[in-house]
Order: sequence, then C-alpha cells, then structure tokens
Amino acid sequence: MCMRIKDHVIMGSDTATATVKITVDGKTIMAIEGEPILAALLSENIMVNRYTVKLKEPRGLFCGIGQCTDCAMIVNGKPNVRTCITPVEEGMIIQTQHGNGMEEGGGTHA
Ligand code: FES
Repeated sequence: MCMRIKDHVIMGSDTATATVKITVDGKTIMAIEGEPILAALLSENIMVNRYTVKLKEPRGLFCGIGQCTDCAMIVNGKPNVRTCITPVEEGMIIQTQHGNGMEEGGGTHA
C-alpha cells in the first residue's frame, strides 16, 4: 500500500512522474526518481532499516538529515549507506542491515 501524499495544503500537488524500480529485501517497489531511498521505503510502510550490533534492536528514520546513521542499510552490496540522504537509482538492490553489515553473507539474515 502506497502512503504518499498526493495533494498537500501547503506544498501543493505532487507532480512527479518519473519512476524507477528498486528492490528491497527481495521485493520490487516503485520510487520517484531522485527521492531519498528512505522516502521510497516509508511510502511502502517499510519502517526498519537496520538492527543494532549488540542488542539487535530495530532502527529507522530519526534525524532525516544524514547525522545519526539510524537509517543505514546495505545498498548495492555496500553497508552503512544512509538512506535518508541517498537518492534512489534504477535497479538499486537494498537490504536491511543487521549489525555492522559486514557479517558473512552480506550482513543480512532471513
Ligand atoms: S535518519 Fe539519521 S542519518 Fe538518516
């Protein structure tokens, strides 16, 4: 279910038309070209980006400006990518990050 706001009382109407396909934990979703990865995830109600190293606690959007690293995910095989400041690109492969993302198997678990 897409949770995008199409008409906003202050921001006006959403006129974005160009979309790209990205894959998130094996699921293909549509994103608006140039939007942050995190925005695309939130529009699909995906709230967890990573699990912490020691306590395995879920983390997601916190600061939204690239300062806290709570939104870090594995993007195209690279761990610790801050999804709130990284624009989507066609064909991106995005994975939930477990720990520091450096474990065997790319840092992901089923
Ligand atoms: S939410 Fe804080 S760095 Fe992305």
